[in-house]
Amino acid sequence: MCGIVGYIGSREAYPVIIKGLKRLEYRGYDSAGIALLNGGLKVYKKKDKVADLEESVIGKDISGTTGIGHTRWATHGEPSDRNAHPHVSNSGNIAMIHNGIIENYASIKNELIKKGYTFSSDTDTEVLLNFIEDIKKNNEGTLEEALRIALKRVVGAYCILLIDKNNPDTIIAARKGSPLVIGIGKNEHFLASDASPIIEYTKEVVYVNDYEIAIVHADELILKNLGNEKQTPFITKLDMELSAIEKGGYEHFMLKEIFEQPQTIYDCLRGRMNAETGVITMSGIQQYEQQIMNAGRIIIIACGTSWHAGLVAEYVFEELCRIPVEVEYASEFRYRNPVVNKGDVVIAISQSGETADTLVAIETAKEQGAIILGILNVVGSSIARKSHAGAYTHAGPEIGVASTKAFTAQLAVLIMVALKIAHAKNTINKERYLLLCKELMEIPDKVAIVLLQNNNIKALASKYKDAYDFLYLGRGYNFPVALEGALKLKEISYIHAEGYPAAEMKHGPIALVDEKLPVVFVATKDSYHQKIISNMQEIKARKGKVISIITEGDTVSPTLSDDIIIIPPADEIVAPMLSVIPLQLLAYYIGVAKDYDVDKPRNLAKSVTVE
Ligand code: F6R
Repeated sequence: MCGIVGYIGSREAYPVIIKGLKRLEYRGYDSAGIALLNGGLKVYKKKDKVADLEESVIGKDISGTTGIGHTRWATHGEPSDRNAHPHVSNSGNIAMIHNGIIENYASIKNELIKKGYTFSSDTDTEVLLNFIEDIKKNNEGTLEEALRIALKRVVGAYCILLIDKNNPDTIIAARKGSPLVIGIGKNEHFLASDASPIIEYTKEVVYVNDYEIAIVHADELILKNLGNEKQTPFITKLDMELSAIEKGGYEHFMLKEIFEQPQTIYDCLRGRMNAETGVITMSGIQQYEQQIMNAGRIIIIACGTSWHAGLVAEYVFEELCRIPVEVEYASEFRYRNPVVNKGDVVIAISQSGETADTLVAIETAKEQGAIILGILNVVGSSIARKSHAGAYTHAGPEIGVASTKAFTAQLAVLIMVALKIAHAKNTINKERYLLLCKELMEIPDKVAIVLLQNNNIKALASKYKDAYDFLYLGRGYNFPVALEGALKLKEISYIHAEGYPAAEMKHGPIALVDEKLPVVFVATKDSYHQKIISNMQEIKARKGKVISIITEGDTVSPTLSDDIIIIPPADEIVAPMLSVIPLQLLAYYIGVAKDYDVDKPRNLAKSVTVE
């Protein structure tokens, strides 16, 4: 949520920052802005996308070797030029960008208004900035000192970058709760919300920790805590290539990421799963294997698509490991005074590893004695650092705002963990264990087969694109897939869609069914198949349009369906990794057919770092 970029060195800052903002645009895209130091302070900002900002600065002075830039997802104040970052302090000397929320901004603002400060935006950021300036003025101290004092009074989350007209050789940054990475170049530094703007210049980065302040010069990086004590920067080598964050010939990142899934699932399994011997090696969780085996309860905490992966995992863990599982929306868990017992195992699932609701929820569970395992995609992310242990999904950067490859990679990791624990606990027989290992290893090839249905699904999208509502139905392991299909459609095509357990339909939603309503059945061959056939009949009897995702060889479902998408046979435990693919493609092609920006759907942001 909000992307931040900064540069200090000997290059022109503008192109580095604009390119970086484009890479971070998935984090928010309702306005963008840039501040440059070149003798004076120049600030340009614009509502809408980074491309609009670029157009607005044509012919203007964009020189300068120090600068900061921002792409915004609005929290306080509507998207507009004046609410766009960077903001400039009342003196006109200091510019600041911010990702996060200052919760006590209203009381600080009142204090400042009494002192004569004026505000040209509705943002909490401008309040914090003038608060810092006021402290600097009163103490006659440095910007760094003023920032440190201000941050001790601030309640909320932030990653901020500050530049000062009177000190052009420095960028000052601070973080709490919102991510900040600093790339170390040769006599230059790059600052960003994630590594994607940095990767083409350097692979050496420092992940700044909460409550740290970074004083960044071209040739020096100083890290301090809020107590003004120097911290040693821990330099990490990025394990990511530039090609991973480019479109590679696809029209959209979302399509590229859908098509990457045979590879990303394979990358996730590779080196961990030996299907022949049945050995699963997961060094990240090895140390906690006993605790997971003995857990009285597993609590899965996540949001959105990751929450859907958690629902599949609930079925898998209960079936294979015989451990009770609860799946919680992170935002609800945090605020309802949950009961967490010592020895409970919490699994946090998150693509970004930065989702504020999930982060706060695991902190709550950790305080109460739970062991936290993170199933995360972004290496070094905030949730990764707050977890006791975990496993990365290795899906590579996911840039399309709608999550696709992260979901299937999360399922791959969760199923591996469940298999490993079930095997160790002896709650699965050897034959079934080996079969499931083999089934899992076959998934990448089977996903490639599902992707061959691309043109068929594109044609279905153009047939159904004008529907006003969709219903998605599934049972058992495919129920969360139905939820995920509905979420994808809502996000990308702005069509109202609901996911339901197929049997629940008769308790209410069936009233919606008429000849105009497309009903997507996730009806692969599993232990619920007979039952879902009956549900199809119920929809057909009411003239609904039935689109079914079915298993190759199923001769009954086609007779009850208006349209079918066939996927290869697979055990029901791994089948969601296949049945979700057509739903991702359907949502994608309907969004494209409606001419929407599928990579940047309205009102959304990739990384939701506000609660
Ligand atoms: C759906 C989507 C969101 C995220 C949710 C959690 O396509 O992208 O629903 O799944 O915001 O994000 P992470 O997994 O980063 O915690």
